[in-house]
Amino acid sequence: MSETAVEDAAAILAESRSVFFITGAGVSAESGLPTYRGIGGLYDCETTEEGVAIEDALSGSMLQRRPELCWKYISQIEQACRGAKPNAAHRIMAAAEQEFERAWVLTQNVDGLHRAAGSVNLIAIHGDVDLLYCTQCSWREAVTDYGGLTIPPSCPECSGLVRPNVVLFGEALPAGALTVLYRELAEPFDAVFSVGTSSLFPYIAEPVMRARHAGIPTVEINPGETPVSEVVDVRVKAPAAAALSEVWTALGKELP
Ligand code: OAD
Repeated sequence: MSETAVEDAAAILAESRSVFFITGAGVSAESGLPTYRGIGGLYDCETTEEGVAIEDALSGSMLQRRPELCWKYISQIEQACRGAKPNAAHRIMAAAEQEFERAWVLTQNVDGLHRAAGSVNLIAIHGDVDLLYCTQCSWREAVTDYGGLTIPPSCPECSGLVRPNVVLFGEALPAGALTVLYRELAEPFDAVFSVGTSSLFPYIAEPVMRARHAGIPTVEINPGETPVSEVVDVRVKAPAAAALSEVWTALGKELP
């Protein structure tokens, strides 16, 4: 990890009263979760054993047509999340809420680890595996484990198809989360950090691009290359927990 990049990132935070973190699966990699893409990623094999692309298996239309197939892969993701604990990257982003006048996290992760680390100012734009709801009636339930479920699960009240509160491929983003996102972005942040995401989706790359154009300092923490790598002011090419810990220490703050 480049010492200069760590010091530059810390210097940006030292000058900031507000910070916006954008996170993806890479942030949870050091908690033992697989990423979606890249080495060992869930999408590495191009098709599932059923012969469909994983993006099709995990789509809203597949949930309607073949709920058992879609649920099989939803369960795999949920299983990977179970028992995982937040790491230093999650904890530092949560601690930032106390250290800055304003700190928010926009995450694509459905694993609940930001919340478990104590983040309150959190926008879970792809939902959360911990909530199940009926596609036919108003039944909903918070769950801690999919272990006891019959796959695909049906509603105890109306027998309708039950689904998790996550955004599947081809589905719209949750309106509530979008409202909070645009409300917060309407008041510019002093710094924007992109951490552990491949930044493939426009709503994930856009806040970085916009900040860059507005002259707001941007930092990417990622051992790999992404569409925002060439755009950011500072690039820390290292794993999230290790990199954020060094940045936090360089800032003179105690590790949470
Ligand atoms: P990806 O799997 O696409 O990307 C993970 C990123 O994390 C890559 O850029 C890696 O280089 C980086 N990475 C790997 N290990 C890391 C580490 N220890 N520290 C920091 N970075 C690391 O994950 P996302 O960008 O989150 O959506 O993927 C976005 C969305 O694609 C997911 O939310 C999911 C998927 O389709 C839905 O399910 C709707």
